[in-house]
Amino acid sequence: MPAADRYAVMGNPIHHSKSPLIHSLFAAQTGEAVNYRAILVQPGEFAMAVNAFRDAGGRGLNITVPFKPEAHTHVDRLNERAQRAGAVNTIIFHADGSSVGDNTDGVGLIRDLIHNHGARLEGKRLLLLGAGGAARGVLPALLGQRPASLVVANRTPEKAQGLARDCADLGTVRGAGLAELAGQRFDLIVNATAAGLDDRMVTLPDELLAEGGWGYDLMYGDRPTAFVRWCRQQGAARSLDGLGMLVEQAAESFSLWRGLRPETLPVIQRLRAVETD
Ligand code: ATR
Repeated sequence: MPAADRYAVMGNPIHHSKSPLIHSLFAAQTGEAVNYRAILVQPGEFAMAVNAFRDAGGRGLNITVPFKPEAHTHVDRLNERAQRAGAVNTIIFHADGSSVGDNTDGVGLIRDLIHNHGARLEGKRLLLLGAGGAARGVLPALLGQRPASLVVANRTPEKAQGLARDCADLGTVRGAGLAELAGQRFDLIVNATAAGLDDRMVTLPDELLAEGGWGYDLMYGDRPTAFVRWCRQQGAARSLDGLGMLVEQAAESFSLWRGLRPETLPVIQRLRAVETD
């Protein structure tokens, strides 16, 4: 039997990564000969690690925190969504050694919301919290769903305004500070801030969610995240975390590498079961 093709995720820290499990489940399900592992990369050694992986015959990489912006400058070509995102989470190595950078986070979010949860975003009022790398990665995909409006709100309002300006050609989008949100209503609030990293919640006015409104946290955890807990308190019709997005962005990477799309629902169910073990 020929050796399996080599893939990996690079980040720091990386021990908590669920990507090796997700990709091994995809490989088992599709029968693809894929060997996928996690590689811890030290600060300042990212370019070296990528080159070494490629030179050893590696076929593709996922890139996670904190190297996504650096990966953006390290590939030979960028496709459009990676260019817009300013960040790369997927690298494809071609046989001639050249590399293409992509970003599958936005499509992962949309597939989870629409395909897995039955959301409809067209004509809806959306709020995106945060204006860092994570927000930039998903904003174009949200605007691609043709919402009635999208407000990007951030603790530092200027950053939200800058991000909104950068995406103004894609739809109706406006930047704001968090306090300015009082009195507004949204059908979907997406949390792309890093506040949840220490289980904290962004300070927000009450009653931002319209009747039947949903909340979606790009983060996930073994327990409900601070934002998911807030959405429940606010009476959200659905309060979702980012585990489904994680699996969907991985499936998009897998299909870029292997040319076929794995089933995601059994993998999401399996990961939820691991969490509650
Ligand atoms: P990432 O790549 O995860 O997006 P980032 O680029 O550092 O990380 O961006 C972090 C985002 O979370 C920013 O929008 C940040 O707000 P500021 O631009 O005002 O710094 C937001 N953020 C982090 N901690 C926060 C907190 N406690 N409350 C509100 N926003 C927070």
